[in-house]
Amino acid sequence: MTVSDVSSKAPVWITGANGLIGNCLVQTAPKFAPNWRALTRADFDLLDFAAVERAFVKERPQLVVHCAAITVVSEAQKNPELTRRVNVEVTKHLAELAADIPFVFFSTDLVFDGRKGGYAETDATNPLHVYGETKVAAEEIVLKNPRHLVVRTSLNGGVSPSGNRAFNEQLRGSLQQAGRGMTLFTDEFRCPIPAVETARAVWELVGKSCAGLYHVAGAEKLSRWQIGQLLLPRWPEIKTEIKSGSAKDFPGPARALDTTLDISKVQKVLSRPLPKFSEWLATNLGEKF
Ligand SMILES: NC(=O)c1ccc[n+]([C@@H]2O[C@H](COP(=O)([O-])OP(=O)(O)OC[C@H]3O[C@@H](n4cnc5c(N)ncnc54)[C@H](OP(=O)(O)O)[C@@H]3O)[C@@H](O)[C@H]2O)c1
Repeated sequence: MTVSDVSSKAPVWITGANGLIGNCLVQTAPKFAPNWRALTRADFDLLDFAAVERAFVKERPQLVVHCAAITVVSEAQKNPELTRRVNVEVTKHLAELAADIPFVFFSTDLVFDGRKGGYAETDATNPLHVYGETKVAAEEIVLKNPRHLVVRTSLNGGVSPSGNRAFNEQLRGSLQQAGRGMTLFTDEFRCPIPAVETARAVWELVGKSCAGLYHVAGAEKLSRWQIGQLLLPRWPEIKTEIKSGSAKDFPGPARALDTTLDISKVQKVLSRPLPKFSEWLATNLGEKF
């Protein structure tokens, strides 16, 4: 499975290469793509459309894997206009440049309102916040091109270059700051997945020329509280107690309670199934999670 047959020399562009998933794709690229280009803000701001276009025309990538985005829900909520520009307009621009080649766009389980759970690709979206709204808008644009691929994923874990992008890094940081106790919700459910598994699945989808919409997430429904219970023993230096609570008592904006994803469509394509998060952790004890 490789993308080398698409064209021998043209690079694979990976945007957001300093982010969690982008970096994982870069780390795993040598196995799947002979020539790749890790694009970060140091290369250009993706909002600088002229610079992006110049580089695109010069380098003629054979595939664009677009990971860059404003990804923090609260940040998106505070900066809706910038979030629309980055998450929608930048995606539109790149998808247009990549009209004749494969293009991968990352979306989120937060396109759903979380009232049902177990969402399939055919279920209707109904985001509760700006972040999810921008992802729905970008998905619609990308899916107009039958060569293009949208990957909706859930909480991704791992080690990010900045040290604060993966959910496990954020949880660990919050627990360190929390002092005596921290509450995690028992009634908010996701399908966590190690970012390395997301990257593996994406390379395989690309290698098999898959297009359209796919859910790529862990094969296990876990509450925030359960995730905390699984991770805490890996951090013996942290003495903070994890208390159970309800997302319904959260004082901020309404939360999507169950955005778990049905992954049966992608499981039929992949050569190795996506893992249950608890089993993955148990068999990858040495991982810096
Ligand atoms: N990680 C998850 O749990 C998760 C879950 C669902 C969906 N997704 C989606 O998966 C994709 C990758 O997520 P991620 O977690 O890897 O994101 P991330 O760690 O937050 O990284 C996003 C990257 O995008 C870059 N970026 C943002 N705006 C930019 C701009 N205008 N020009 C150039 N670069 C820009 C950021 O650069 P700076 O660092 O310089 O700001 C950052 O490196 C995103 O589309 C996200 O919405 C992620």
